[in-house]
Amino acid sequence: MSSLLFVTSSILGQNSKSRELADELVAKWRSAHPGAQVVTRELTVDNAPHLSLETIGALGKPTQDRTTDEQARVDYADGIIAQVEAAVTIVIAAPMYNFSIPSALKAWIDHLARAGRTFRYTETGPVGLLTNKKVYVVSARGGIHAGQPSDFVEPYLRVVLGFLGLTDVKFVNAEGLAMGAEPAAKGLAAARTAIAELSSIAKAA
Ligand SMILES: Cc1cc2nc3c(=O)[nH]c(=O)nc-3n(C[C@H](O)[C@H](O)[C@H](O)COP(=O)(O)O)c2cc1C
Repeated sequence: MSSLLFVTSSILGQNSKSRELADELVAKWRSAHPGAQVVTRELTVDNAPHLSLETIGALGKPTQDRTTDEQARVDYADGIIAQVEAAVTIVIAAPMYNFSIPSALKAWIDHLARAGRTFRYTETGPVGLLTNKKVYVVSARGGIHAGQPSDFVEPYLRVVLGFLGLTDVKFVNAEGLAMGAEPAAKGLAAARTAIAELSSIAKAA
């Protein structure tokens, strides 16, 4: 059965625009996949931890040698990978903060990228192991950045997700949200039109 993983990373709670728009995208997906499972990971609610020396050390130890704290770190990292592996569709709400992604989303990616599990190195270069999944990224921005050197959200996410094998990635950018009422309304309307036109959501998977 199809399943969708919904990852949120805004620090603005109920006022999050990336969350609001991504909710609409998920609702569209749900109506195209009745009964399918949706799993939500809210990274700011999680208080997503940074990847640390302790976690890397714990991952390198045999299970029986880990302390309770080390096992909890491994369980958290394994849980992030397992959720992505289990999903056929992934929706990421990725606001722009200081030209890039929120630190909680970066921490999620740092836990997801694991050599030998989600990617591997070969003689011909790295190979991503998270294949055959569709990814939708909804990115709210105060200004206008798409296609500009100031956009470190879309180019970064395309590279790092592609490195992990997630190459089918569609972006919906809601821009100009801090530029006044009219530009904000225009930015939100454009994003809603883009979501409505995402025909791939309706197809199987
Ligand atoms: C901490 C912080 C940093 C921000 N940095 C930028 C920025 O660099 N460029 C920009 O255009 N907007 C910036 N904004 C505006 C946000 O992109 C905008 O509020 C957007 O709606 C955030 O998505 P969210 O509502 O889902 O959190 C920033 C907002 C916050 C709270």
